[in-house]
Amino acid sequence: MAERKSNIIIEESEAIRQKNIIKALREEFDKAYEKTGKKKLFFIQTYGCQMNARDSEKLKGILEEIGYVETDQEEKADFIIYNTCTVRENANQKVYGRVGHLKSLKKKKNNLMIALCGCMMQEDTVIDTIKKSYNHVDIIFGTHNIYKLAELIKAKLETKDMIIDIWEAHKEIVEDLPSIRKHKFKASVNIMYGCNNFCSYCIVPYVRGRERSRAPEDILSEIKALVADGVVEIMLLGQNVNSYGQTLDQSFTFANLLEALEDIEGLERIRFMTSHPKDLSDDLIKVMGQSKKICNQLHLPLQSGSTKILNEMNRKYTKEDYLELVKKIKAARPDIALTTDIIVGFPGETKEDFEETLEVVKAVEYINAYTFIYSKRTGTPAAKIKEQLPESVVKERFNQLIDTLQPFVERHSQEKVGKTYKVLIEEVNQQEKELVSGRLSSNHLVHLKGDKSLIGKIIDVKITSAMTFYLRGEQV
Ligand code: 5AD
Ligand code: SF4
Repeated sequence: MAERKSNIIIEESEAIRQKNIIKALREEFDKAYEKTGKKKLFFIQTYGCQMNARDSEKLKGILEEIGYVETDQEEKADFIIYNTCTVRENANQKVYGRVGHLKSLKKKKNNLMIALCGCMMQEDTVIDTIKKSYNHVDIIFGTHNIYKLAELIKAKLETKDMIIDIWEAHKEIVEDLPSIRKHKFKASVNIMYGCNNFCSYCIVPYVRGRERSRAPEDILSEIKALVADGVVEIMLLGQNVNSYGQTLDQSFTFANLLEALEDIEGLERIRFMTSHPKDLSDDLIKVMGQSKKICNQLHLPLQSGSTKILNEMNRKYTKEDYLELVKKIKAARPDIALTTDIIVGFPGETKEDFEETLEVVKAVEYINAYTFIYSKRTGTPAAKIKEQLPESVVKERFNQLIDTLQPFVERHSQEKVGKTYKVLIEEVNQQEKELVSGRLSSNHLVHLKGDKSLIGKIIDVKITSAMTFYLRGEQV
């Protein structure tokens, strides 16, 4: 415990240091505003997963505290930041394309500041490329030090040089800095950072570092404060939430954490992602079975249905283990809406291997799936496997996978028609202003007649029809 105490001291002193820098910048920004009458604008583009989305909330929090105001018009911004993803190569290409385009904007706008951060920046080759070909970028930082944004902006204001601050590994978990929530009534909470699984295709463990769990008391107090502030739904985030607690110096599991959350009055819905099948315990299934708050949804990445490929992916479960797990979960929660991730075209995947994936898809009957074409990531073990598949074969399999999934997706939606569900209303529909949109416990999206007074409320909705990507309903 002594060690943990010393950790807290580091975290607190670092947070205070950052807050002081934010304050100093704020004073400068306020003075400039008095002179010009114009607030400085920032534009943020977030790529990738929910972790990045959460990181962007923290970045926005810092920027707004400094005195920036968000804009969705990139060309009007004084500060542009891209929070990048590198899980697949095409994500990198998109970022390079957009950063290239910013060069002309930078020429027109002298004081424009451009920052890049996130997973892609943790790769040495990316930094080399940016230094060589995109020297109009002002600030580069990675995944371990996003809380330092204000300090990096201050440093850039004092020099003409590009500021590069990338940490190889994580130092301390800095809590208690400002952050902006997109919705008043729902929030994401990191419960752990990093990943220790080293699936052979995946770059995440290299760019997000080793797994570390936040202390349960920190998570609980953050969630209690959110609930006191009007939050009714929380999403617990981690690369592998099922191994939560393994790095703590006390015995406390993910199942224990969920039990503790069940008792928080005012908290109505709990979601979490991502669950690695190898770590999904019987205890967790039991807690899910008994809980009144855990949503009827579980994201359980399959990746492949072939035990041979799973082994080469270093996933540590077999096709049979996965199917058995699904059986247990469905026994505990018969209405569970299962979603998954599937990779097509992993090196060496044969027709038979792929057919096993289709078999699992048909057996599990997913309500939805994220399907990916395998992308070779330099530095991962799979990138060294010689037998990469021809693009035409992969594309054909990819289409076949979508065709196999689609009838189940549609059937699950159709089955909802005529039934009544609890729906958390999230927003007024962008296209049709007399409609509001919300989510079922299963995470299905539904549109219904209503106005903004319903936002943040959980109401009963009867489903009247099902379209490909959403449902329609009416309040009952
Ligand atoms: N190629 C394709 N998909 C990948 N994923 C991770 N790495 C790769 C890769 N190299 C997918 C996995 C993971 C999801 C977040 O991204 O399916 O679960
Ligand atoms: Fe990547 Fe596997 Fe870790 Fe998920 S569990 S982040 S796929 S290494």
